[in-house]
Amino acid sequence: MHVLLIGSGGREHALAWKLRRSPLVSRLTAAPGNPGIAAEAELVALDPADHAAVVAFCRDHGVGLVVVGPEQPLVAGIADALAAAGIPVFGPSRAAARLEGSKGFTKDLCAEAGIPTAAYGRFRDAAGAKAHVARTGAPIVVKADGLAAGKGVVVATTVEAANAAIDACFSGDFGAAGAEVVVEEFLTGTEASLFALADGETAIPFGTAQDYKRAFDGDTGPNTGGMGAISPAPALSAALVDEAMATIVLPTVRAMKARGTPFRGVLYAGLMVGPKGPQLIEYNVRFGDPECQVLMRRLESDLAAILLAVATGRLAEVAAAWSPEPAIAVVLASKGYPGPFAKDTPIRRVPPSSEGVVVFHAGTALKDGALVATGGRVLNVTARAESVAAVRADAYDAVRAVDWPGGFWRSDIGKAG
Ligand code: AMP
Ligand code: GLY
Repeated sequence: MHVLLIGSGGREHALAWKLRRSPLVSRLTAAPGNPGIAAEAELVALDPADHAAVVAFCRDHGVGLVVVGPEQPLVAGIADALAAAGIPVFGPSRAAARLEGSKGFTKDLCAEAGIPTAAYGRFRDAAGAKAHVARTGAPIVVKADGLAAGKGVVVATTVEAANAAIDACFSGDFGAAGAEVVVEEFLTGTEASLFALADGETAIPFGTAQDYKRAFDGDTGPNTGGMGAISPAPALSAALVDEAMATIVLPTVRAMKARGTPFRGVLYAGLMVGPKGPQLIEYNVRFGDPECQVLMRRLESDLAAILLAVATGRLAEVAAAWSPEPAIAVVLASKGYPGPFAKDTPIRRVPPSSEGVVVFHAGTALKDGALVATGGRVLNVTARAESVAAVRADAYDAVRAVDWPGGFWRSDIGKAG
């Protein structure tokens, strides 16, 4: 089978690495890809925003499965265009991608389906949102409704900070994403991510991970897209996974089907595990990055067979087997990230992959034959071994073997406490 992978980040490099190892995959192409993905797949010059061109490529080249990595093309409807052309696609329709694309939509669905989540209000003007904050007090959470590249959430410890966040949203800081605001109860507990695959009818758990959102050690500094991850998530026991599947994921899949917008793809549930059990913080409709990297290091089953089963509504026929060993990913980012950073800094050495350590590329490019950093998050050093202490030792040995003066990383990924 010819598989086309859409995307260019560390998540997609990990997916390509795993797909390449599937006996079902005879040809793997990626658009637009990156220099790391190029080692696993043929890169094709296709613009994922040009759905007609993607469909034409699939028809011309006999693509049997399209795997969409990032959320943007999904929210833009790439899965609808492919499905309309009869091409199996892993990733939800535009209507189902609203689970990530609109926080207000997801909160309403949770309320209707009785899914445990923070109490909330939806507002289209600042006065209404501020009146809600005045009634409830702080701490409270203010969110832009739409996609805001991870920057649309403010956990406000005071009423003043909440009001400032409301003003920022409505003043256009997040463009159309901020035209509506969701104000939420502040939840306490431990955060963890649960991944589940759904084929429109049913869902199975597909691994857990803990990510490290803050830029610096000890969870300090600004929020980022993620500076590292560990799988399995220490906070999610098998019993908690079962509970979250029963109370959160399966009711969501049923509600989406009942609305006529069945969800096919991966549901990434951001959970808060507190005294009331798991509660939903938010959904993403794609794999996490760098969470995907640690999941792929632990998945023992054939990824292509599983993703094809999701795409064709046959999830009940497959099962996912996982290594019991933990995996971590340490992100190497450009100095300055998530703020401004220098572009095209030279990466002089990337250590070779071994059985235990695999390095996935994110924001890299080849300029005149030399590897340079082009993005905020640039390399993901992953390791899998018999214990958390061993994966940390292996991963950080490899991190130190990277020769890239323009980069920085956290030294506490996977560390307890
Ligand atoms: P989100 O983009 O919705 O995942 O929010 C980003 C981060 O804000 C989450 O990972 C949490 O740390 C925090 N957060 C979001 N919603 C809440 C909430 N209702 N209570 C406490 N923290 C929250
Ligand atoms: N690592 C967080 C995300 O992918 O959204």
